[in-house]
Amino acid sequence: MKRKPLIAGNWKMNLLNSKVPAYFTALEEATRGIDRQKVDVLLAVPAPFLTTAREHAQRVQAIIATQTIHDKADGAFTGEISIPMLQDIGIRWTLIGHSERRQFYNESDSSVAAKTKSSLAFDIHPIVCVGETRGEREAGKMEEVLRRQMDAILDVVEGNSEFTIAYEPVWAIGTGLVASDAQAQEAHAFIRGVVRQKFGSLADRLRILYGGSVKSSNIQGLLAQADVDGALIGGASLDPAEFGKTVSLASSI
Ligand code: PGA
Repeated sequence: MKRKPLIAGNWKMNLLNSKVPAYFTALEEATRGIDRQKVDVLLAVPAPFLTTAREHAQRVQAIIATQTIHDKADGAFTGEISIPMLQDIGIRWTLIGHSERRQFYNESDSSVAAKTKSSLAFDIHPIVCVGETRGEREAGKMEEVLRRQMDAILDVVEGNSEFTIAYEPVWAIGTGLVASDAQAQEAHAFIRGVVRQKFGSLADRLRILYGGSVKSSNIQGLLAQADVDGALIGGASLDPAEFGKTVSLASSI
């Protein structure tokens, strides 16, 4: 059974609020006429653009997500953004534990678990990111790392929780080095197996996105894999024509 693909863009710390309307105009143009029953679309945008993006995203039925959240509902955490603040402006999805958050902001398996737990408690859908570094892969530790990262997440979810996993091999992010279709499938099947061991049929409905140098030229091969249910796209989501092309191709599989 193939799950409905989710094509998610992650703008990271790029673009400007003033450019958001034109982005969605171009995305609307690039996705005109495609069968939206066949693909879900999401964009994770910088916090200052959330409201503008949410307004314009309606034109292309895209979900707007934030790129990270704090696990506490409020308090003395200068610079952070809480889940109730996001809910208050109508945001219902977030990325959690992106490798750049793990690498540059000391996010760990336990903080990723705490954020995942809070998101689910507040009915925010988390896209939780996992993935091994190049050194870990070369040392033959891919499965060990993925199991450790997944165990931390699975400790805080339940059999009926609504969440998404993004497998992003760190060595393929922003490097132009996409994992081969077979490498992606192997990791995705492993992750789904870990979920199945603990939660049985949850594994069948869980969407596992692949991330790392995805673009329109490689999306079809990735989505043809049995356990690849979409993509998390960084650099190639900044150009709405290219992102729209990727969405269109995903809708025609
Ligand atoms: P990339 O980034 O598509 O630019 O490799 C992917 C990601 O970090 O989500």
